[in-house]
Amino acid sequence: MLNADTEPGTTPTAGHHPGTDRSGSEALRERIATELLAARERTAGLTALDDHDLIAQHSPLMSPLVWDLAHIGNQEELWLLRDIGGRDPIHPEIDPLYDAFEHPRAERPKLPLLPPDQARAYAHEVRGRVLDLLTTTPLDGERPLLRDGFAFGMIVQHEQQHDETMLITHQLRKGPGALTAPPPPATATGPLPAEVLIPGGPFTMGTDTEPWSLDNERPTHRVDVPAFHLDTTPVSNGAYQEFIADGGYDDPRWWTAAGWAHRQQAGLSAPLYWSRDGGQWLRLRFGAVEPVPAAEPVLHVSWYEADAYARWAGRRLPTEAEWEKAARHDPAADRSRRYPWGDQEPTDELANLGQRHLQPAPVGSYPAGESAYGVRQLMGDVWEWTSSDFLPYPGFRAWPYQEYSEVFFGPEYKVLRGGCFAAAPVASRGTFRNWDYPIRRQIFSGFRTARDGEVR
Ligand code: AVJ
Ligand code: FE
Repeated sequence: MLNADTEPGTTPTAGHHPGTDRSGSEALRERIATELLAARERTAGLTALDDHDLIAQHSPLMSPLVWDLAHIGNQEELWLLRDIGGRDPIHPEIDPLYDAFEHPRAERPKLPLLPPDQARAYAHEVRGRVLDLLTTTPLDGERPLLRDGFAFGMIVQHEQQHDETMLITHQLRKGPGALTAPPPPATATGPLPAEVLIPGGPFTMGTDTEPWSLDNERPTHRVDVPAFHLDTTPVSNGAYQEFIADGGYDDPRWWTAAGWAHRQQAGLSAPLYWSRDGGQWLRLRFGAVEPVPAAEPVLHVSWYEADAYARWAGRRLPTEAEWEKAARHDPAADRSRRYPWGDQEPTDELANLGQRHLQPAPVGSYPAGESAYGVRQLMGDVWEWTSSDFLPYPGFRAWPYQEYSEVFFGPEYKVLRGGCFAAAPVASRGTFRNWDYPIRRQIFSGFRTARDGEVR
């Protein structure tokens, strides 16, 4: 079996395997320290609010921001200081407060949480000790958890994932916004073909070699994907407005039974944060009300809404395998890339990631980031709903963090792919899998549609 994913040159240091010699190991330590710092700067920015704002629960869907802050520190302490470093707990009594499985989000405000100054001091204290540990810990792979700095990379990704969660809380928060960022640069080119044909045939899904990939992305497996057509770009607000104007929310023909029941019960009539002002659609975005930009990808839609739109358009959502083939497969080389554009790390020119901008870029942006098939914006901008349930790949092994994904596998969760403007580059890969309930839309979710290829 040709396993393109195992070809050399797919590691973060471009062909120089980290941790195999002294200089490689130093470069890896530096990269880890840089990533830890970047995550903490992001966390600091998202928690630079008055105490009452940090303690408040802005939505029953979310934790108070001060919970995320101490939970970030607590996970870092558990995995790095206690497990890797063998150190004693700093505050053993707080562990249950910050265990995500002990208390649902809605209950967290009532817990005796660390107040903001203590939460900050705790996370800071953990971080100082972690940076000491980083200088003395061998990353040569003798311990599997440390190979390529994996445990550190996992903790960096965990903090960045909570930074995205905290940004969701900021968007839900009432009153004037606390965050600002410039819009994405204008890179859209056009006009583009509405869809791209992805010819049938096998490709390598998942990864065995991506050093900081999480367990649900592994192992590689060949998947034969029949020919299909995929939208060149995510579905735009303008296109979604046509679905609304055509009565899409009032016609059960377009909805699954569960989707229609939810649409009725929740009274859905437009994406979350949209409101109608005379003839114009407005949206609330980080505390400001503005006209809905027709050219941006639609954002804050549930899987049920995405699925209904696709059926209205005479199309369907892509499967997860279709999405990944369109994003990663290089047909000329018959290998899977790390990202749509190739193996190099994301940059500002390639994708809208990392909260540099607080909105997606217009559809057709980032020509430099297109996939081998010419599909745009697969990485960044908006998370894309797929039709697939969140299930383990054949040969899946939970490691090292059983509660990360294994406990969520099943038909009640749908897979989202591709990262979004709020997701960090370090937690956005061609193989990265996100998941949520089909009713969720406070997440930065959009979608693109597909249809079957010609049957031969
Ligand atoms: C991968 C985004 C679904 O936020 O529930 C954070 C990430 N897991 N802490 C989540 C996560 C544990 C997870 N998602
Ligand atoms: Fe967490």
